[in-house]
Parts: sequence; C-alpha cells; structure tokens
Amino acid sequence: MNAVLEQFALTGKVAVVTGGFGKLGSVWSRALLEAGAKVALLDKPDILPSEEALTLQRQFGEERLRFYQADVIDRPSLEIACHHIEDQLGLVDVLVNNAGIDQPPAKVRNDRLQDIPFAAFTTVMDVNTAGSFLCMQVFGGSMLKHAFGSIINIGSLYASVSPDARFYDHIETDPPFIKPPAYGASKAALVNLSRYFATHWAPQGIRVNVLSPGGVEGNQDEAFKAKFQHRVPMGKMAQVDDLAGPLVFLASDASRYVTGTELIVDGGFTAW
Ligand SMILES: NC(=O)c1ccc[n+]([C@@H]2O[C@H](COP(=O)([O-])OP(=O)(O)OC[C@H]3O[C@@H](n4cnc5c(N)ncnc54)[C@H](O)[C@@H]3O)[C@@H](O)[C@H]2O)c1
Repeated sequence: MNAVLEQFALTGKVAVVTGGFGKLGSVWSRALLEAGAKVALLDKPDILPSEEALTLQRQFGEERLRFYQADVIDRPSLEIACHHIEDQLGLVDVLVNNAGIDQPPAKVRNDRLQDIPFAAFTTVMDVNTAGSFLCMQVFGGSMLKHAFGSIINIGSLYASVSPDARFYDHIETDPPFIKPPAYGASKAALVNLSRYFATHWAPQGIRVNVLSPGGVEGNQDEAFKAKFQHRVPMGKMAQVDDLAGPLVFLASDASRYVTGTELIVDGGFTAW
C-alpha cells in the first residue's frame, strides 16, 4: 500500500461506538472494522444487539467486535464499560459519540411548539449533548493515559439549519408534526462543545471533530423522501455507505492535523 493510503489504516486501534445497536451504529462499526480497528459497541442495557451488529460479530469475530452495556447519561455505567474495554481490548484510541435521540413523526399526537413539554426538550439535550460530554470525559480519560486519540461526535445537518416544516406537511395530524426543537439545538451545542474539547486536549494528542450527516435514506415515507431529495443539490438522500469514508478519515492519521472542525456530509443541503 502506498504511504497516503496507509494513513487511513486503523490496524490494531481500539474504537468505541456509542448507540451501537441503532441504524448507524453498525455502519460506523463496519467502516472501523474494515479499516483494521477492534470495536467496542455500546448501547443501553435494555437494548438487544441489532441483527446488523450480530452479523458483523460473526464476520469479524468476538476478538474484533465486542458488545458493552452503558447509558451515556450515567457516568458510573460508562466507567464500568470503559474499564472492561481497556481490559479486554486495550486503551481507547477512537470514540464515535453516536448515541442520540430524535422523534419521528407521530400519527396520533403531536404538540404545538408552545405546548411541547419541558421534559421532551431536556431529554433530547441530555442524551445528545450532555451524554456526549460524559462519554468524552470517560473515554477521553482512557486516551489521556497514552496521549493519543480521535473523538468523532456525530452531529447533523440540523446543527447548521432549522428543519423545513414543509417536509412533513403531507402528514395529516392536528396539530401538524414538527421536528423537535431540541434536536438541532442539541447538535449545534455539540459542535461547539467539540471545539472546546479540541482546544483543551490538542496538547495531549487528542483530536475532536464532528461528522454531521444529512438525512440518511431509510424507511421514511415516499412523500418525505421526494421533498427532501428535491432540496439536496446532489438530488438524493445520503446512503449509509456514503458515511464510511468520512468517518475513517476523521478517525485515522489521514486527518492528523484536523481538529475542532465539523465535516458536513449532506450532498450540499446546507450549501443552498
Ligand atoms: N439517521 C439519520 O438520518 C441521521 C442523520 C443525521 C444525524 N444522525 C445522528 O446519528 C446518530 C445515530 O442515528 P441513528 O439513525 O442510528 O439512530 P437510532 O435511533 O437508530 O440509534 C440510536 C441508538 O442510540 C441508543 N441510545 C439512545 N439513548 C441512549 C443512551 N442514553 N445511552 C446509550 N445509548 C443510547 C439507542 O438505543 C439506539 O441504539 C444520532 O446521533 C443521530 O442524531 C442520524
């Protein structure tokens, strides 16, 4: 392999992916495994491993992919998981702060903006922002032990722009569905929090960046997809495979002089 391609290799590195049993957890994991890393997939204690995660474990073996339980808003559970990961895989080199919550359109009940319960707002902020903060503290602690690491916080295009309510105006509920206001706020806060950690830990050899995907095509309804795609300069939603390269770039030495930045992978959505 030539020198520049070697910079993308993660051979023998230990990577932690939070929220690992959701839709994108196995996408990040596959990318990290294919680049040579050992991966610790972490999710809440009441969540069973996804089919995709189990398939990856069969393919790469338990020595390369292990499952751990922890809640990202519960520091003691994170510390226990980190201890097991260090013991079984080694000190942490890469953290993908992927655990997050959003709210899909509800067919039954939606709230008007002025009536959204306070707890609905703070729960999203807690998991998406404060949970990422806690994970950076705990797994960053492992990185500090060997003065090396790359933290990738998963943001969103909604860290930069507000959701377009017209994407949802075909959903016939009264009141109409609105994407939760806390979601974008939680991701925008995460971008700035990443800059904070990046500047503080740069002298310790730890880089901190944000990877912000655009809408990823999944089981959204066709009317939503059509409206969303029309709004993307590249004319399509992100496919899961579009995210692997950007993650490996940020995780690896290929980005060794990159810290405190946000890589937006949205087909140009936020350029318009
Ligand atoms: N899917 C998209 O289109 C998209 C687009 C932009 C950004 N994102 C971001 O990517 C990340 C992953 O999205 P996804 O589509 O895979 O979501 P998902 O809902 O499928 O998965 C999220 C995972 O996080 C876990 N989780 C939630 N709360 C947790 C907690 N307190 N502790 C530990 N784990 C917890 C859930 O159990 C779940 O497995 C999220 O941060 C999301 O905001 C997704």
